[in-house]
Amino acid sequence: MNTKQFIPEKSTSFIDNKTYKWQTPSNIALVKYWGKSDPQLPKNASISFTLNNCHTITSVSFSKSTNVNEINFELFFEGQKKDAFKPKIAQFFERIQNYCPYLLEYDMVIDSENSFPHSSGIASSASGLSAIAMCVMSLEKELYPNISEDFIKKKASFLARLGSGSASRSIEGPLVVWGNHPEIEGSSDLFGVKFSKKVHPIFENYQDAILLVDKGEKQVSSTVGHNLMHNHPFANQRFNQANENLSKLSKILQEGDIDAFISIVESEALTLHAMMLTSNPYFILMKPNTLEIINRIWSYRNETNSKLCFTLDAGANVHLLYPENEKEQVGLFIKNELSSFCQNEQFILDKVGIGAKIL
Ligand code: DP6
Repeated sequence: MNTKQFIPEKSTSFIDNKTYKWQTPSNIALVKYWGKSDPQLPKNASISFTLNNCHTITSVSFSKSTNVNEINFELFFEGQKKDAFKPKIAQFFERIQNYCPYLLEYDMVIDSENSFPHSSGIASSASGLSAIAMCVMSLEKELYPNISEDFIKKKASFLARLGSGSASRSIEGPLVVWGNHPEIEGSSDLFGVKFSKKVHPIFENYQDAILLVDKGEKQVSSTVGHNLMHNHPFANQRFNQANENLSKLSKILQEGDIDAFISIVESEALTLHAMMLTSNPYFILMKPNTLEIINRIWSYRNETNSKLCFTLDAGANVHLLYPENEKEQVGLFIKNELSSFCQNEQFILDKVGIGAKIL
């Protein structure tokens, strides 16, 4: 794999006291990434919808380093110094240091905030790390003015991936594939690429309502979770299945076969949880209300002509996915029926978005 393309030549310029600010979104996987090998390479290809309202806004200020032998940064989250988040970011900088050697010449102050409540059970690593990656690439663009916009996005996704796999899918939108797949041109284990085929209009502006069933800290960290796939009895079948599902989904997205879409997306969510149920140690990450919501979605679909379906992350929250033309009806269904199964009746209405924005 060609990672050399991401190693710049030594820069002769220096930019002092400069701040860059980016807003980058969260994403929701339709075909899930679950299982990786070093260094942050996925065991199967995945595809996600980029979200619009759930995002992180991050600014990074770069000033002359006080110690060029190591990467120095301070971290503020929603205005407060947040040392608890530092180790993940420190590991990220360690992993990207070879690809961004110029970072050693700067002290960085990172200031970050999420549009969604921190303790909502919504993973913030995808939006959080992609935002820092974009700020780093803004600096790189000033140091190396000849790099192209395409290269900037590709390298930002490459860097973000080294912080958190799913973050590689948070630079662009509305659909991003990460992981090498024979039918997706340009796809790579190293970075996410925009799903470039023409998508059927039914999937445009697709809606995602996130039902906050359990807002607590994640019961299983993603690192522990991915590691459960090493020596998992069903690992290989799962990785093959995911790649096959991506082939099928690619056609479905182009042809607009929404019933086939529902069947793959729901099966992917349940398979992700099946992997956790059958790992050693084993975990149940769904809560009774997760199941209650799923059953009510199925009844609602039986009783109406709705194309509403669900997907899950590695947690208890439920993402409801539905076409834009059902926005009002599903909105009422959530408000009148499903919200009672959410913690404090909380949910977030979101939709598909287009990716990172400079501020
Ligand atoms: C279940 O990207 O959070 O959301 O690479 O260890 O940071 P790390 O894992 P992470 O895993 C996300 C897993 C998932 C499925 C998905 O987003 O594809």
